[in-house]
Amino acid sequence: MIDIHCHILPGLDDGARTMDEALSMARIAAADGIQRIVASAHITPGVYDNSPDGIVSAAGVFDDRLKEEGIPVRIIPGADVRMTPEMIGNDGSYLRINRDTPYLLFEFPHGLIPPGSDRLVAALRGRGLVPVITHPERNLELQRHPEKLEAFVKMGCLVQITAMSLTGEFGPRALAVSERYLKDGWVDLIATDAHDTIKRPPILSRAVRRAEELVGAVAARAMVLETPERIVGPI
Ligand SMILES: [Fe+2]
Repeated sequence: MIDIHCHILPGLDDGARTMDEALSMARIAAADGIQRIVASAHITPGVYDNSPDGIVSAAGVFDDRLKEEGIPVRIIPGADVRMTPEMIGNDGSYLRINRDTPYLLFEFPHGLIPPGSDRLVAALRGRGLVPVITHPERNLELQRHPEKLEAFVKMGCLVQITAMSLTGEFGPRALAVSERYLKDGWVDLIATDAHDTIKRPPILSRAVRRAEELVGAVAARAMVLETPERIVGPI
């Protein structure tokens, strides 16, 4: 499997705090059958001011360390990009998945979908980019009005739900909305959005089993293998 969204790089955000913790996360991922991880540090202006170059270099250092340790997981640079007006017109303010692909992880603020989001997405699409909307099932406005996601699906965004939403650990609303989106055929990807080894570990398999019950084995597998592979490219 390939995990498209994971806060595994040590010290860059609220994910792994130390190299030891990051290595432990990678061991958990490997044991779960995850072979590649997009290390998607937060880029949230004023909160996590990570630069694309900084993430790329940290991802390279961590990937080398995994090789040294014999942990069979490869690291791909990416970023968890908070939706902000600065995204338009500033190529340096975000990092695409694996640097030069058209895909970028795109996070709405937790509480709402800001007015003008559709115009921002349209502008990104107009530049040939494909926003991957992260965990819409955890967004409070979409929990109240799940149908509001459709406009973004129609604009060509991909949709990523969080594995732990589908296993109920983000509460009944996130569970219900993720199930609904799966049944509606709006979900392209399942990712861990892992931050540590205990509360939010990098485990996909449990959610995949649940997705299989809802959409069948072929579609569920595509959400953690074929579709992420299309995004990150071959090894
Ligand atoms: Fe995230």
